[in-house]
Amino acid sequence: MESTETSIDDCVWHPFTQAKTARPPIHITKAEGIYLYSQDGRRYLDGISSWWVNLHGHTHPYIAEKIKKQTDTLEHVIFAGFTHTPAIDFARRLLSILPGKMSKVFYSDNGSTAVEAALKMAIQYWHNANSSTKKTTVVCFKNSYHGDTFGAMSAAGRNEFNKPFWKHLFHIESIDIPQKGQEQRSIEQLKAILKKNQTACFIFEPLILGSGGMVIYPANGLNELMKLCREHDVLTIADEVMTGFGRTGSLFACDQLNESPDIICLSKGITGGFLPLGATVCTEKIYQAFFSDSLHQALLHGHSYTANPISCSSALASLDLLEEEACTQQREMIASYHKKFCNKWHRHPKLKRCEHLGTILALEYHSETPSSYFQSLSSRLHHFFLDHGILLRPLGNVLYVLPPYCIKEHELTFIYNKIIDTLEKEL
Ligand SMILES: Cc1ncc(COP(=O)(O)O)c(C=O)c1O
Repeated sequence: MESTETSIDDCVWHPFTQAKTARPPIHITKAEGIYLYSQDGRRYLDGISSWWVNLHGHTHPYIAEKIKKQTDTLEHVIFAGFTHTPAIDFARRLLSILPGKMSKVFYSDNGSTAVEAALKMAIQYWHNANSSTKKTTVVCFKNSYHGDTFGAMSAAGRNEFNKPFWKHLFHIESIDIPQKGQEQRSIEQLKAILKKNQTACFIFEPLILGSGGMVIYPANGLNELMKLCREHDVLTIADEVMTGFGRTGSLFACDQLNESPDIICLSKGITGGFLPLGATVCTEKIYQAFFSDSLHQALLHGHSYTANPISCSSALASLDLLEEEACTQQREMIASYHKKFCNKWHRHPKLKRCEHLGTILALEYHSETPSSYFQSLSSRLHHFFLDHGILLRPLGNVLYVLPPYCIKEHELTFIYNKIIDTLEKEL
């Protein structure tokens, strides 16, 4: 049966949505550049890159063309025992631009699976060396987010999102992020954990906690924590699922660090926002711990669509665009506009903070209760912007702008002006 443009969305369960209280979903029929077009004739400026995945604008013709070409030659093939050129070419190019000395790319299909693979690599790394190892604990930042599968949920620690599953999450240790002036506290917390000599790995979102409220922190404390891990023979995992591919100013957030991680998780912008793909990238040291005569020592993990050739072609095309000078200039323009906005508005009495990191702008509104994802301000702001043709999706009291890099100056100004309305008027 052919689907019609007028189909009613009553057979679909939407993510992160309480269907009973939410407005009906907006039916999008077309997207181009920075805009989404709805069935009822409205247009929305995509200010959050459709959950942080889109880099160069929707339906970018260059990526679309490369995808079309790939579908004519090889759509998909099992990746165990088989390989193909798009996967090899993308891995090679990725390794050439990642910070540190990364050696192997393990493919999966989203951010959570990229994290699951990283955790399994790190835990099995110690198991392969000694099957009765006590180095099994995962350390993470408080209030972090690594995805919605059980390993990824566990690695974020117990929070309001994963409450129904608390009994089923594995044990972790958590430390505070090394915010400016509070680096020592995080360092002491980590030292106390490392003393027990039971830590397998430390997983972190570099320079900014994304879903945890776009909380930005400087590199120096993180460098110290990573150095401590290195000195205590603990593996480090940088979760760059959100920060990768230019969001924080540099190509990867880890480019801004002196230390380099053992494992990097990537997804979201990896294909420019066209198709799902995850990559867990590791150093040769990690890979060698699995390289053995025994199948038991192999990473017995994989997904049906691992290294999908069409996704890999999309990723290659997106990288072509990302490496163009014009894209770098666009990212710099966005960062400089965000900076000017912050300089002007960060002292506004309604704001607790207003800051930016590269192309990401974050504003936290004051509230009587502590900021939480479940606050009504969040949905009031969301609807206010939608009603003005802008897609922004606040995290509790935190409003953020994370646009595709093709956004124009006047479109940024349009968003800023609506933000200023929320500061100057009652919502
Ligand atoms: C830092 C980080 N890691 C992992 C994930 C999970 O990615 P996905 O939604 O593709 O499973 C996210 C998603 O927001 C994320 O921000």
